[in-house]
Amino acid sequence: MHALSPDVVQRLLAAALAARTRAHAPYSGYAVGAAVLDETGAVHAGCNVENAAYPQGWCAEATALGAMVMAGGYQVKAVLVAGPGGQVISPCGGCRQKLREFAGDDVPVLAADDSGVQSSWTLGELLPASFGPAHLK
Ligand code: THU
Repeated sequence: MHALSPDVVQRLLAAALAARTRAHAPYSGYAVGAAVLDETGAVHAGCNVENAAYPQGWCAEATALGAMVMAGGYQVKAVLVAGPGGQVISPCGGCRQKLREFAGDDVPVLAADDSGVQSSWTLGELLPASFGPAHLK
């Protein structure tokens, strides 16, 4: 189980659920919201953004990471993802790698539905033996 405070979890959940309402998902109908906590304590959120040329769409986690980078954040300290309705989802494989750019193995990844967090893992559990920035140093 993660060691995040209830306050931080609540902020991440509220941000992800609010972001999910902005999802552009006309093709799948599958709205996702994500939120990341940065090293300053700020929370950045995002939704999935689909495209008529299907492979050009991107995930909620990618939007949240872009928002963090634009705000000057660099280190991801926690992640929360909220699937549609009652669905509890974990980040897709591509997003696990995107998160790895800014997060270490120990960073908690929380999966929530509308009523709260239902599951959690570390990023290292979701993406073991990963390739990351240190390999290029
Ligand atoms: N999706 C996300 O936004 N995050 C994930 O981790 C899983 C999938 C989106 C992509 C696509 O717009 C829709 O969910 C269905 O795959």
